[in-house]
Amino acid sequence: MTQVPAIDPRLPKSERYTLLLEQVKALQDPLAGAWANAGNILAALHFAFGFHWTGCYLVRGDQLVLGPFQGPVACTTIAFGRGVCGTAWQRKETVIVPDVDAFPGHIACSSLSKSEIVVPILNASSEVIAVLDIDSDAYNTFDDDDARGLESLTPYLAPCL
Ligand code: SME
Repeated sequence: MTQVPAIDPRLPKSERYTLLLEQVKALQDPLAGAWANAGNILAALHFAFGFHWTGCYLVRGDQLVLGPFQGPVACTTIAFGRGVCGTAWQRKETVIVPDVDAFPGHIACSSLSKSEIVVPILNASSEVIAVLDIDSDAYNTFDDDDARGLESLTPYLAPCL
């Protein structure tokens, strides 16, 4: 599959994630490099929902280091427990931030970012190997439907990272 059909934005969010999951499965190409496959997953996700920034930070020692992403330039390192990304890594759970200015220690890579969700990405041993970070330019973008939808996608990102 080299093209993905547009997902109707009028559909309920949970249905959009279900359709996106099918696209993500079809986008995995064993002939392509791992980061090409990760890039395609992130591109499908980013453009399906029109997010501001969609990407991965990879666990490297006690830091998160910027991995594949779609969107404006971003900070390259985040310490364990710092910002929304480091907090999701530390807690090993999805973190939803309705208003980034109200989250203590939020790391602002873009002044346009207003709300955020970060989902830990686990390996087969249930260790956090990366986080999926998504920023929106609107407040209150993310809810439990996003959390469940994104948590269903991360197992397809994990082998690419
Ligand atoms: N806001 C994140 C930093 C990464 S950027 O959003 C791309 C955080 O607080 O961890």
